[in-house]
Amino acid sequence: MTTPEDEKKSNGSEFGPLRTFGRTGGRPLSTRQQKLMDELLPKLSVNINDHIASFDPNELFEGKPKEIWFEIGFGGAEHLIGQAQNNPDIGFIGCEPFLEGVAKAVTLIWENEIPNIRLHAYDARDILNGLADQSLDRVFIMFPDPWHKTKHHKRRLIQPEFLETLSRVLKPGGKVRFATDWANYADWALERFEQSPHFEWTATKADDWRIPPADHVTTRYQTKGLGDCKPVFLDFAKI
Ligand SMILES: C[S@@+](CC[C@H](N)C(=O)[O-])C[C@H]1O[C@@H](n2cnc3c(N)ncnc32)[C@H](O)[C@@H]1O
Repeated sequence: MTTPEDEKKSNGSEFGPLRTFGRTGGRPLSTRQQKLMDELLPKLSVNINDHIASFDPNELFEGKPKEIWFEIGFGGAEHLIGQAQNNPDIGFIGCEPFLEGVAKAVTLIWENEIPNIRLHAYDARDILNGLADQSLDRVFIMFPDPWHKTKHHKRRLIQPEFLETLSRVLKPGGKVRFATDWANYADWALERFEQSPHFEWTATKADDWRIPPADHVTTRYQTKGLGDCKPVFLDFAKI
């Protein structure tokens, strides 16, 4: 008989295999990348087995980071690496199930000797559920899979239950940045954040959402311009 625990092990996540626009596999890794994945990834990986809403992410870093920032779906890792280099006193956790992206992140961390990034090569929601209350200062959701067909909207990351989880793990005043170049997903996300009692949209003028914020790092997906509108940047604060 297959138990829920077996299911979790076989999928690597309690949420089951992740449906994503990206590939979880990709091109075969080079010998060097494979070596880094075998030797460095285990040292960088977040292991929160047996933690249910109790893990303190400060434990992942040497010394106490000023803040902990969390990126969901870092793709090719441009944003994660750029933010970590621009903010050396912050501890970063990046989540991405796409192996080629993880290999890129590990390689860049090694080449640039970046000390302040830890990785989870699976579904971000696993880690979020393991984190203690009010343990994150900032969350980035940059160009998430748009699932633009109406019948696929239920697969979108931004859902009321997900916002409840985000609200639990964020400190009061903690920030969330959501970016997309799909108009319907921008409207969808804004509506759900505004319906949540836990978040407020911090924009005060149109340029706050239609111009990339000063601290933004351009992502690979963003440069592809695959969406149906210009990139929209929605910044929220936990109330
Ligand atoms: C459209 S891509 C954008 C990648 C990157 N943020 C960028 O802007 O270039 C969305 C990424 O989110 C990842 N993803 C989707 N659902 C996820 C989840 N629940 N946890 C972590 N990553 C996820 C996918 O594997 C994919 O690489």
